[in-house]
Amino acid sequence: MMADADPLWPAGTMPSNPHDSAHLHVAGLARYVDDEPEATGMLHLAFGLSSQARALIVGMDLSEVRAFPGVVGVYVAGDIPGENNVGPIAHDDRVLADGEVVSHGQPVFLVAAETRMAARKAARLGRIDYAPLDPAITVAQARAADARIEADQRMAQGDADAALDAAQHRLAGKLRIGAQDHFYLEGQVVHARAGEDGQIHVVSSSQHPSEVQHLVALLLNKPSADVTVEVRRMGGAFGGKESQAALFAAAAALVTHHTGRPAKFRCDRDDDMIVTGKRHDFEVDYEAGHDDEGRLTAVKLRFGGRCGATMDLSPGINDRTMFHADNCYFLPDVEIVSERLKTNTVSATAFRGFGGPQGMLAIERVCDHVAARLGLDPLEVRARNLYGPERDVTPYGMKLEDNIAPQLIARLRETSRYDERRGAIAAFNAGSPVLKKGIALTPVKFGISFTTTHLNQAGALVHVYADGSIQVNHGGTEMGQGLYIKVAQIVADVFAVPVGQVRITATRTDKVPNTSATAASSGADLNGMAAHHAAMTIRERMAAFLGGLFGGEVVFTQDGVIAGDKRMTFAEAARKSHLGRISLSSTGFYATPEIAYDRPSHKGRPFYYFAYGAAVSEVVVDTLTGEHKVLSVDILHDVGRSLNPAIDRGQIEGGFVQGQGWLTTEVVEWDDKGRLLNHSPATYKIPTAADRPKRLRIDLWDGENVKPTVHRSKAVGEPPLMLANSVFCAISAAIAATAPDRRELPPLDAPATPEAVLRAIAAHKGAV
Ligand code: MTE
Ligand code: MOS
Repeated sequence: MMADADPLWPAGTMPSNPHDSAHLHVAGLARYVDDEPEATGMLHLAFGLSSQARALIVGMDLSEVRAFPGVVGVYVAGDIPGENNVGPIAHDDRVLADGEVVSHGQPVFLVAAETRMAARKAARLGRIDYAPLDPAITVAQARAADARIEADQRMAQGDADAALDAAQHRLAGKLRIGAQDHFYLEGQVVHARAGEDGQIHVVSSSQHPSEVQHLVALLLNKPSADVTVEVRRMGGAFGGKESQAALFAAAAALVTHHTGRPAKFRCDRDDDMIVTGKRHDFEVDYEAGHDDEGRLTAVKLRFGGRCGATMDLSPGINDRTMFHADNCYFLPDVEIVSERLKTNTVSATAFRGFGGPQGMLAIERVCDHVAARLGLDPLEVRARNLYGPERDVTPYGMKLEDNIAPQLIARLRETSRYDERRGAIAAFNAGSPVLKKGIALTPVKFGISFTTTHLNQAGALVHVYADGSIQVNHGGTEMGQGLYIKVAQIVADVFAVPVGQVRITATRTDKVPNTSATAASSGADLNGMAAHHAAMTIRERMAAFLGGLFGGEVVFTQDGVIAGDKRMTFAEAARKSHLGRISLSSTGFYATPEIAYDRPSHKGRPFYYFAYGAAVSEVVVDTLTGEHKVLSVDILHDVGRSLNPAIDRGQIEGGFVQGQGWLTTEVVEWDDKGRLLNHSPATYKIPTAADRPKRLRIDLWDGENVKPTVHRSKAVGEPPLMLANSVFCAISAAIAATAPDRRELPPLDAPATPEAVLRAIAAHKGAV
């Protein structure tokens, strides 16, 4: 599959260098925001939170808060000099509630105190009088109230209704898909300090330093040039620090603005879970038409997305749900409707996959439903519906040019011995009344690019010092995913030096401006290419100079820089260039080519390329308790030509297990008053080491990106999360084995908690 040496990327596959901070992580020496030394006079912050889901604020008595020992300042909406907003698109997300509250746990006032404990204790003493209004908590309530964050969106190809009427067979179903808390190990944290002459410096745990800069500037009525935001690393983000970090940064900046003192906000875990947005949960209704072979001829999908109280990133996220509702399958006549429902719950936000996982799970359920009706192996149904020649146009009108799903699935089917194991499982189930096993293979096709076209750009800044050491800076942020080491490798490769010679420095808005969030899995694609351009500029300058000096062609090799007959170390080459007054510093810029998308019609080419993968999961379900175990998982995943195979495998494993948690154990529920019921590890169960599949095999697909991305690699951050759809489908298959002759799909909702599994078993058996 691998092409001959690529002229631009002759190095071939990149090495598995350890994460640049691995030695610091394990020794506890990696500095997170909370580890920064605290300046004298540092103030600590806490929010006073709304006790109502929806209400007017009719009075506020904060005298006891102010009187609490150690409290230095208490702030309300009126204390904000500029714009009271941390919304990324619409300006509808208040830092502090102004006259009304729209979700339980919304910040109403802000306390600054000498200690964190004093701030937190004082924050509980606020007395707020509310005139409660009727909240909309559920999708049904929001529909009844016609509450939406934007108009319903429709994506269609062909005529789904006519095709349904003409179909040989029809089916319909419903699926609830739960939300998910990010549960980053490092919670939301930030500190701010005043610089001279009205400037402010913010050290944030944010995926989007430029947006924090922009929002803080608007909040304080300052030009962006007076606000600097710095992010060295995050202790996990997963989308939860794309828009959500701005709230805490705004609070810290506001206090620094008023007091002149440094201010730090390290949010308590329970508050963090209550106050910050999560993955969207959905209610999905589907109708499908299919033929005797299980080929889909018509599909209608309706996604009711709970968007929470403000717009946040919901338009793009719900768009991505529509974009991925085809997954790897050709849907000739299809209609996808997406309702963006406004509820009085915390605003739903970005989470790994950005709406894609929900869309994909829905169509996998449709495939499973068709298979159940026809008594076919679901994998046969999947295989018959794959995109292929003459069947290669997506519901948004984009022609697939890089479809490797059929080959990838076929290979995994073989290497995982899927068919053999499926037979063995059927035999096991026939003789096992209580324990039932299930197996499923599900594929992934994930579109790479921000669907908002202008976000697909990045900048970098590279310095070569006269001693031959190199510094790199770019707009991407490090959240554990290994972006920094990948970019360092790309730069080291340009100069043919060991990666240890490249120092990656903290992401800062004063080094690279106007950056996009590190999101949409595009960090390495965008920033890696920008850094490559910067490094190439310097290399070309050095080559021109050294060529003039020594004559002949100049090449950068691992044995040094060769110019004509002269061989020198890279350090000598740098020193000579410096003495020759050659600029050894350059910016680099990259904008993704070819993409264009018309949102009103939902047609175009929103993605530069697709990342593919597939997983086979085998599970065993205890049909008396509803518990399950994932016994064995085989993954074949496409990262193009890997930038770092070890890091990529880490992303695949982490993404898979995070998806497993979403679909099996992580429950997000609000009560009828809009109070979040799961806001600590005691009530919210993420996967532990014991939940990791006992056997987990990960193989990388050996093809390269057909598009000229950096080193012909592919993005890897989000796509593997959706490999966990196979776990959900395998659990559903195990449940189906409780009444094997029934040609119906067990009504299983996500997450498949023991309760959900028992309900599905009862319904499935009861209806025989
Ligand atoms: N991996 C780790 N360890 N921690 C994270 O927070 N975030 C994920 C993914 N992998 C995340 C992670 C998400 S949501 C995205 S969009 C990508 O990383 C972002 O980084 P990338 O664009 O460099 O892949
Ligand atoms: Mo990832 S959800 O795009 O931050």
